[in-house]
Parts: sequence; C-alpha cells; structure tokens
Amino acid sequence: MSSKRQILVTNALPYANAALHLGHILEYTQTDVWVRFQKMRGHECYYVSADDAHGTAIMLKAEEKGISPEQHIDDMLTIHKADFEDFYIGVDNYHSTHSDENKAFSELIYNRLKSNDHIAQRSISQAFDPEKSLFLADRYVKGTCPKCKAEDQYGDNCEACGATYAPVDLVDAVSVISGATPIEKESIHYFFKLPEFTQFLKDWIDTSAVQKEVANKLSEWLDSGLQEWDISRDAPYFGFEIPDAPGKYFYVWLDAPIGYMASFKNLCDKTDLDFDYFWKEDSPTELYHFIGKDIVNFHALFWPAMLKSANYRRPTKVCVHGFVTVNGKKMSKSRGTFINARCYLDYLNPEYLRYYYASKLSGTVEDIDLNLEDFVQKVNSDLVGKVVNIASRCAKFITKGNDGVLSSNIDDQALWNQVSSAADTIATHYENRDFGKAIREIIAQADAANEYIAAQEPWKLNKDESQAQRVQDICSLGINLFRVILTYLKPVLPAMAEAGESFLNDSLTWDSAKSPLLGHRINSFQPLMQRIDKEKVDAMVEASKEELA
Ligand code: 2FM
Ligand code: ZN
Repeated sequence: MSSKRQILVTNALPYANAALHLGHILEYTQTDVWVRFQKMRGHECYYVSADDAHGTAIMLKAEEKGISPEQHIDDMLTIHKADFEDFYIGVDNYHSTHSDENKAFSELIYNRLKSNDHIAQRSISQAFDPEKSLFLADRYVKGTCPKCKAEDQYGDNCEACGATYAPVDLVDAVSVISGATPIEKESIHYFFKLPEFTQFLKDWIDTSAVQKEVANKLSEWLDSGLQEWDISRDAPYFGFEIPDAPGKYFYVWLDAPIGYMASFKNLCDKTDLDFDYFWKEDSPTELYHFIGKDIVNFHALFWPAMLKSANYRRPTKVCVHGFVTVNGKKMSKSRGTFINARCYLDYLNPEYLRYYYASKLSGTVEDIDLNLEDFVQKVNSDLVGKVVNIASRCAKFITKGNDGVLSSNIDDQALWNQVSSAADTIATHYENRDFGKAIREIIAQADAANEYIAAQEPWKLNKDESQAQRVQDICSLGINLFRVILTYLKPVLPAMAEAGESFLNDSLTWDSAKSPLLGHRINSFQPLMQRIDKEKVDAMVEASKEELA
C-alpha cells in the first residue's frame, strides 16, 4: 500500500433551522463512506462537521418558537447529532459555528484580510422593514413583477418571466416578515475584494481541486468578471459582531466555512492533533470538502481566496455532488417524497439507504434519483439475495459438520484469486468517489461466488458421508469469499460488517481481502440483514405527507 496519508474531511454544515432530510443524507453518506474507506486502508483520516448556526432565518425561527437563538440552536444540535449517529455517519467531531473557536478564527481571518487591504467599505441602499427595523434580504420581500405583472414574486427575480430586479422595484412590495411596505435605506457594508483573486483562482481550479464540469462552470464565472463580496449584515442579526464595527455582523457565509477549522480545532484541543500542521500554508496533509452543487461559489471562489489572503492552506479537493430526486422528481412535501431523516429511520434500516445511495453515486455532479421501487428491489436482490445468501447457504455446514472450523484448503484457487484481486480496482473506484462502479464490481464478485456454490451443490454432496471433506472445502471457500465481499462493503455497511465480523470471528481491514481464513473457527450464523418490506416504504411516504399536514 502507498504511504500513510493524513486527511481532513468535511461535509457542508447543515443549517440549524430545520431537520435533516434525505438530501442531506446523500452527502453525509458519500462523505462517510469515503472516510471509512480511507480509515480501512490505514490512513490517518479525520471527519469533522458542525451545525451552521447563524443568520436571519435562524434568528427568526427562534423568535417564532419564542425561545432565544442560543436555545434554538442547542436543540437543533441535539437533533442533528442523533440523525448523524443513527445513519452511522461516523464524524470524529460535531461542533457548532456559534462557538468560541469559530469566533476566534473568524476574527483572525477577517483581521488578516483587512490588514492585507482585501476589505472594502461603502454605503449601500437596501430594502428595510420599518416595522421590524430589519434590513430585508431579497427572499424576504414579495410583490408584483414590474415587467410582466405576475403577483407574489420574490425580491430578486420573477419566476414567471425571468426578469431580475431589486426588491424595491417590485410593485406593491411587502415584507414577508411583517407585511409592512419596505422602504429603501442606506447603511455601511464591508466587502471582500474577490476580483483581486481572479488569476489566483484561475490557477487554483486548474489544479484538479474541482471536478472538470465544475471547473468549466467556474471558468465561465471567472471570465465574466467577479464582484466584491458583501460579508457584513446589520443588526439585528444572529452571528458574530465584526471587530471595530459596532452593529455590524459577519454574514453567515463568511463564518460558515471557517466552521470547518473551528470544529477541527475543537477536536485538536481534545486530542493531541496539531491544528497548524493541518492548516498551515505548506501543509503536507490533504483537505477535502464534500458539498452540493448549489454552494460551489462559496467553496471554490470565496473560500480559497479567503484562505489565500489569510495565509492558510487551500483545499486539496472540493467534491461536488448533485441533488436528490425521488421517483424522478424534485422532493415534494405534498407527494410525501420530502422525507426527513428521522421519518426514514422510524420505518427503515439506515443501511438500506446507504447502500442504495452508494450504488448510484458516481463522483460527478449528476443528480441522484431515489426510485422507491428500485430501492426495494435492489437492496433485496443485492444485499439479501446475493451477499448475505453466500454466508447463510454455507455457514450451517461448517457449524454442524466441522464444529465451526474452516478448512485448511482453498477449493478453487482461481476463483479465490479473482475475488481477492478485485481489491485494487474497487479501491480505485472508492478513492474516486465512483461508488456505483465499486458496488457493481463487488456484486459481480458476489455473483461469481453464488454461481460456484450453486454449481457445487454442497447440500446434495452432504447426503453422502464420503463427501464430507468436499462439503467443508466448498463451504469454507464460500465463507471466505463472503468475508472478502463484506470487506469491500464495509465502508458502506458498517453495522452489517460489524455483525459479520462477530460471525467470522475476525476484524476486517482492507488487507483482509488478501488472505483467506484457514483452519479458523467461526461463530454461529445470525441473519445479517432482513428484506425491505415494501409496506414500510409506503408507510414512510404516508407519514411524510402527514408531517406536512
Ligand atoms: O447550504 C447550506 O446548507 C449551508 N448551511 C452550508 C454551509 S457549508 C460551510 F460553508 F459551512
Ligand atoms: Zn415577471
């Protein structure tokens, strides 16, 4: 194996204003599988995450609930952490952007940008709610489109005719928050001078730091010219006040990615990890951010430019995935396909979804369709019908016939070599986040194992005393092939792998695929996974509709 890598991995930090849904779970599954794979390969890999706790939406949500924002984000943190844990998302640290570490890093980075003359300051005019005394972001103003007169349009663009405009241009504009008519008001804002980083970013996206299709999109933006980025918001705002700027707060998107550093710092303070070693400009470590395609600008333009100015290392790679659709359509509350993570868990085993998502992921930005019929069919056929079936068909002969001890022979060396030597190809697919290809290769090996067992018919041979050793040899190879396949699936199915490890009386690392267990005692077989009951899926969809009501 190549030398030991040191890798830090993050997922996009979920907002602390809503429950996690199956779209979030796609990203966390992708991240978690990749991290578990790296750890299995013996690399030093840390996965940190946090709640993204700031901004107007969170402030308003707390107000609506009649509690403080601090109480609200604490409650959400508990809920999100439980969802992570129950989906086996093995984060090494889960923190919050509303933390001492994040405040310190946000101030430090801002001060560095400022002393490098990368912060501008000027007055801008914005929509203001005179009743709430609150500046209104575009989505908090609604009215009639000035161009086509379509009603009930947001403050930035018209969904009917596509026109773009300022909120104050809307006819009969109202504040979504209070219903008051917004006025225009001036205030001082702070801007990050992004255009100064144009050449730096052009060079950076050429370094394979993003996928090809993402690099193409970024090049278009870079070629059409970058704008300065407004990083401040006026009080009242739930966030961190900007140093030496009373009443001005960092925009949530300024301190959100800094939350990656803050969570890692929090981990470092609890362990003997060295923060600077991972984040210094010339760090030999690797840094990966897993994100959705809607937030590429924040991660592949603003964030690397901020890091550059503040003298920190840049990400090794920003890994961008597409959106989740359900049954071919956008997730919809009324169809019951906007499914919360907790609702899923109330009905179904998290590993079913982990497997299904893995089987569809490709390392590109293409959307992933969760087709509920295909989901049932694929999980039942692949995992229960093929993978677990290998072990359940063979185990009983070993337990009964040989007191649980596997043969010392390999019955079919060519087959063993084939399944065992698939390890490198599968590893390459995992490394490239091409999990769908990894799964197809693994299932092809499971098919080969099943064909072998079906051809040998140990259940028939078992009727003939003189064939007792053959039966042991065949079923021992079956168990060994199962063990290799389970090794390959372990990043995706950590709980099933753990149950399989107790059965095999072994603990699986990536190298387990290299050598079989010979003359080794296994434990009695327990069913490792139940079939998905289609009725449970239907019940989950119904429950999601009811949650909406
Ligand atoms: O889009 C979102 O859900 C954001 N909360 C993601 C933040 S990612 C990082 F920058 F913190
Ligand atoms: Zn219009």
